Amino acid sequence: MKITSLLSKVQARDNYLVIDFSTGEQSRFHWIWLRDNCLCQKCHHPQTLERVVDTWSLDTQIVSEDYKIADSGTNLQLTWPDGHLSEYSSVWLRSHSYDTERVSDGLPDPTPWSVNSLKSRPSISAQSVLGSDQGTMTFIRQLREFGFSIVTDLSPDEGMVEELAKRIGFLRETHFGVDFTVESKPDPNNVAYTAIELKAHTDLPNLEMPPGIQFLHCLQFDAEGGESILVDGFAVAEQLKKENPTAFDNLTRIPVLYRFLDKEWDLRWHSPAIRLDHNGQLEEIRYHTALTGALDTSFDDMEALYNGLRAFTEILRRPEYELKFKLMPGEVMVFQNRRVLHGRAAFDPQSGPRKLRGCYVDCDQAWSKFRVLQGLNKL
Ligand code: OGA
Ligand code: ZN
Ligand code: ZN
Repeated sequence: MKITSLLSKVQARDNYLVIDFSTGEQSRFHWIWLRDNCLCQKCHHPQTLERVVDTWSLDTQIVSEDYKIADSGTNLQLTWPDGHLSEYSSVWLRSHSYDTERVSDGLPDPTPWSVNSLKSRPSISAQSVLGSDQGTMTFIRQLREFGFSIVTDLSPDEGMVEELAKRIGFLRETHFGVDFTVESKPDPNNVAYTAIELKAHTDLPNLEMPPGIQFLHCLQFDAEGGESILVDGFAVAEQLKKENPTAFDNLTRIPVLYRFLDKEWDLRWHSPAIRLDHNGQLEEIRYHTALTGALDTSFDDMEALYNGLRAFTEILRRPEYELKFKLMPGEVMVFQNRRVLHGRAAFDPQSGPRKLRGCYVDCDQAWSKFRVLQGLNKL
């Protein structure tokens, strides 16, 4: 049974209101925050749902003149000095409480994994993702929790992976095109387009915003070698933080120069290899030795940067973190590019073809899709 939190008690303080919920939790809400987040139609446009209250003309010292619990604990009613009325449901207040806990973004939390902790590869059939909202939701949940999913039984033809990707976002065009073919090419502008080993990396760290989700669909695989690798960069970063907190801190602080260079492009961006989000949680890994430029951080930080990247790399390459498998024709490996690193073993192009088709989308659209399918797109 789902426990709904009712309001059991409210107490006014100078700057805030203290609310006791029937579930035993207690949360403080600032008066200014409550007034600013009034949900009435004068404060939020009824059609666009955008804020129309002008936050910056509210009295910074505002305090409600009257506050009461209504409707058997399901609502809080406030009256402001100018007579404006605000009402908030207990459920809304509970889910927006910012007192001691993180406010949920409506998504499952990431579950960092190593080869042993992962019971099996998260996987789902293409038919399920393409043909049902439930399947699409499960697919996005796997991507969010584990940072990857193996989609099976997608007919190994060009154009199919794009259809799959469009279920969860807009195709993200890059200097490799809207989509791209990964095979050993005579005139490669990227190590992926050769037959050599690709050590675990994240794609396109040289962009301001590297794509969030990458799709690689196996169309043909008769070559010897070429096994895929996936490594959870969040698990590696957590392990680094435990073993070598200084290296971890340095990697969240010191920018790395990433650079892609060919006849038409010179794309450069600086970013720390590990970035944390507004809650201090891991948000992004950028790591690609082949695309690391001539490092240009300050003299004083240069050794710390090398040491940090070396320590990260040492954990990254431990067998316990390297999930290895052969991607079969018809399978698609889909992963959060800014979390799960990918790579492949060298292959022998003389022994047979190996051909993948790839494209990217961004996480924000996929996460939005998940929330909409859950019915969370309400104020
Ligand atoms: C890529 C890549 C891996 C592979 O195209 O970005 O890393 O298995 N390919 O060929
Ligand atoms: Zn209002
Ligand atoms: Zn890659």
